[in-house]
Amino acid sequence: MIEKTFIFIKPDGVERGLVGEVLRRFEQRGLTISELKKMTVSGDLSDKHYAEHIEKPFYAGLKEYVTSGPVVAAIIEGENSVKAVREMCGATNPIESAPGTIRGDFGLTLDANIIHSSDGTESAAREISNFF
Ligand code: PPS
Repeated sequence: MIEKTFIFIKPDGVERGLVGEVLRRFEQRGLTISELKKMTVSGDLSDKHYAEHIEKPFYAGLKEYVTSGPVVAAIIEGENSVKAVREMCGATNPIESAPGTIRGDFGLTLDANIIHSSDGTESAAREISNFF
């Protein structure tokens, strides 16, 4: 089924110049970048996007991280794009991400894990409406 999913390349990924490499991988896989923008995540948008994690001990650091510099947000469209993109990003903690995945190839720590991707079609729709 053709799906839309949402990603944003986090400030460390943008600062390290990984935007082209990450987007290239999605295009190479056969997915389409249907919307794309560089932006800064406000504190309010962070709270909205990570609403289910606000009470967690890591959230203050996560909020500081995602609001620390520009991000690149995109809607990625294609056959089973939610699962395809999620697997291409790799496990949340880069030290556990398989080589060949974005986090497994470019990351080492959870506090700078390069990219966010939606975990399902419902969260994708919600996240897309928050960012676009
Ligand atoms: S949980 O508690 O299992 O539901 O959390 P998890 O799904 O592993 O992570 C939710 C998002 O929080 C980010 N995260 C962190 N960021 C920075 N520092 C620390 N310590 C940390 N722990 C979790 C994690 O990357 C998830 O964000 P996204 O943007 O979805 O990757």
